[in-house]
Amino acid sequence: MNSKSESFFEGRTALVTGANGGLGLALARALADRDCKVYAAVRNPDNIADASNYRLIIPVRLDLTDPDSIDALITLVADVSLVFNNAGSNRQDSALFCRSEGAAREEMEVNFFGPLRLARALAPLMKDRGEGTFVNLLSILAFEHLVECGSYSASKAAAHSLTQGMRAQLQPWGVRVIGVYPGPMDTAMSASLPLPKVSPEVVATAIMSALVSRDDEIYPGDIAQEFHTKWRPYRG
Ligand SMILES: NC(=O)c1ccc[n+]([C@@H]2O[C@H](COP(=O)([O-])OP(=O)(O)OC[C@H]3O[C@@H](n4cnc5c(N)ncnc54)[C@H](OP(=O)(O)O)[C@@H]3O)[C@@H](O)[C@H]2O)c1
Repeated sequence: MNSKSESFFEGRTALVTGANGGLGLALARALADRDCKVYAAVRNPDNIADASNYRLIIPVRLDLTDPDSIDALITLVADVSLVFNNAGSNRQDSALFCRSEGAAREEMEVNFFGPLRLARALAPLMKDRGEGTFVNLLSILAFEHLVECGSYSASKAAAHSLTQGMRAQLQPWGVRVIGVYPGPMDTAMSASLPLPKVSPEVVATAIMSALVSRDDEIYPGDIAQEFHTKWRPYRG
């Protein structure tokens, strides 16, 4: 990244959901390293390993299954211009023969309704300021249903469709929407998956590059790249 690209981040304020581990923590660190102030939104603010090492990382409370918690956060972070909808829930169950329908509903709350509520509240504020970007963490499972994570796949498909709708409606406001479609990542969520995995740091770096380029969809990691190359000819 050249110095002009690096200066894109300086003095900006970001919100990263699910910032206490995995990709969220890698994103918070990457942003703070670029002199961005970061609201690190987590269920337990005492649970962020290195917030104290990073002057620019500010822990805030958020439970995406609790609308009151989302509304309280929105009031606190009204100045953000970069929103990373990173928090995700994957209960690793089939959709059709799930053990609990409640788990599927929780996935939809975290992966779809939470980002929707944040976008509805924060996009108009970005419009007033004439700039802003949402980065939505999706998955190649948004396009390909994996039975073992069936309800999660469905929630990511819903979030992908939401991402397309946000892009169409927010582009005239000068607000950008980036969709990120990784394959398996080396985080707690995929710990039990016996597959090659991309590191969260590599994905975070790819996202930083997308922010300073014109890429509105990115597919970080070998598996995601392979998937994208295969399906690209059939997508609109
Ligand atoms: N890992 C993969 O293979 C993979 C592949 C493609 C896409 N993704 C997506 O990448 C994103 C990051 O996931 P990750 O791999 O870094 O997984 P992770 O390490 O399991 O992190 C998930 C994060 O979401 C938070 N979260 C879960 N439920 C929440 C809720 N109700 N309210 C607020 N935060 C909540 C978790 O907080 P707690 O620590 O409190 O539970 C955690 O910080 C997710 O959107 C995921 O779907 C992951």
